[in-house]
Amino acid sequence: MAAKPFHLAWFLQGSSVQAWGEQWTGHIGTSWQQPDLFLDMARSLERACFDYILLEDSSYVGESFGGSTEIYLKNAIAVPRQDPSVVAALMTQVTSKIGIVPTFGTYAYHPYLLARLVATLDQVSGGRIGWNAVTGSSDFAAMNFGMQGMPEHDTRYDMADEYMDVVRKLWGSWEPGAIVADRQNGILVDHTKVHGVNFQGKYFSTRGPLNSGPAPQGQPVIAQAGGSPRGRKFAAAHAETIVVNAKGVEAMRAYREDVHKHMKAAGRDPSQCKVLFLINPIIGDTEADALERKKQRQCLADRHIEQRLAHFGKVTNIDFGQFDLDKPLPDHVTTNGHQLNLEQFRAMAKGRSIRQTMASFNAVDLSIELCGTCESVAARMGEVMAEVGGDGFLFSMPNVNRRTLAEIEDGLIPALQDRGLVRKAYEHKHFRDNLLAF
Ligand SMILES: Cc1cc2nc3c(=O)[nH]c(=O)nc-3n(C[C@H](O)[C@H](O)[C@H](O)COP(=O)(O)O)c2cc1C
Repeated sequence: MAAKPFHLAWFLQGSSVQAWGEQWTGHIGTSWQQPDLFLDMARSLERACFDYILLEDSSYVGESFGGSTEIYLKNAIAVPRQDPSVVAALMTQVTSKIGIVPTFGTYAYHPYLLARLVATLDQVSGGRIGWNAVTGSSDFAAMNFGMQGMPEHDTRYDMADEYMDVVRKLWGSWEPGAIVADRQNGILVDHTKVHGVNFQGKYFSTRGPLNSGPAPQGQPVIAQAGGSPRGRKFAAAHAETIVVNAKGVEAMRAYREDVHKHMKAAGRDPSQCKVLFLINPIIGDTEADALERKKQRQCLADRHIEQRLAHFGKVTNIDFGQFDLDKPLPDHVTTNGHQLNLEQFRAMAKGRSIRQTMASFNAVDLSIELCGTCESVAARMGEVMAEVGGDGFLFSMPNVNRRTLAEIEDGLIPALQDRGLVRKAYEHKHFRDNLLAF
């Protein structure tokens, strides 16, 4: 029986310096302000028939390690970081089929501004835009927008539920067929098909209609990544693709089943949302070469424990610089940031010190271990997907450079295509139609 194909996407760690300090990055330390690498990436992943590129984002300079910005700035940890809407727009102009999914935080954009921005991107891309809807997690980010700090974790999701309602109404404020472009009678828009929204909610209000005009997809695609119980509920209610770093085949299957359960409870058909699992495949010319490369990556991760803790502290708001890294993380430490991440860290610790736990936590492997030749990695990806039941993988690789892109596009993808595991061509014009095609 032919294997069911699965979906592929790429998690780009922000519009910022990629793989700083690593090999094969050219003059990235100065060339990062220009978009060339990202545009090459978009073209490459479109040739490889990926569903989408997700542009991760945060809007603050980290300061949670030892109460200083030093480690973040010195090592390019999520900074400098450009506004993702600009690079997303540029990517749309050098591609014609792949989905482009910038991240925008609900705390940072008024829903009207967001609806207008995303509708505009959907227009200029010809219906290929998704929005990675994040609630934000850092008090530093909140302070950049005039708040004292982030609202409480679950309240953020309550606010985001209402936010989704507002943006959907704004996108719906133009009925299909509103633009008549009738030159003979001099009518551009049929005003009877454009409606006010007049939304007055608990957290947001807006008048509408949206002045950008309609999005080609009607409602652009929604991506989400909430991992906590409340986050999963939010994602299941709204998302058409969910990205998650679940650990191992069992956890992957359970996560997807849980999403389906929540979707059904929200009255949605589970086939309308694709759950993609994070991977970081290590590919070599031979199995031995791949193992050697994996060893090198592990060494790099071991050397960078403090930097990785600084990054982890950025998303959990925990200052790991205050702890003795050779002791376990104290039990009283909690987070108002990414809850699932902290939960996974604790589950992995099993009494070990912070340093020892971090040595293995997301160091190389993400959802599953993938290390080998193109053929063996492709085969393993197929096996795992068959066991999990769907829906695909999100590449999250720390060594983003043109060599890595070539290894994926010209090495791994043909091996997956030969096995009938991924698409060889896009069938549809719009992002959503490709995403939900199988
Ligand atoms: C693959 C992935 C990508 C994410 N991208 C972003 C991002 O770009 N910006 C952001 O603020 N949060 C991002 N997040 C965080 C999620 O939006 C969410 O806040 C996080 O998973 C914690 O959710 P929880 O507290 O419900 O567990 C990402 C999470 C994952 C797993």
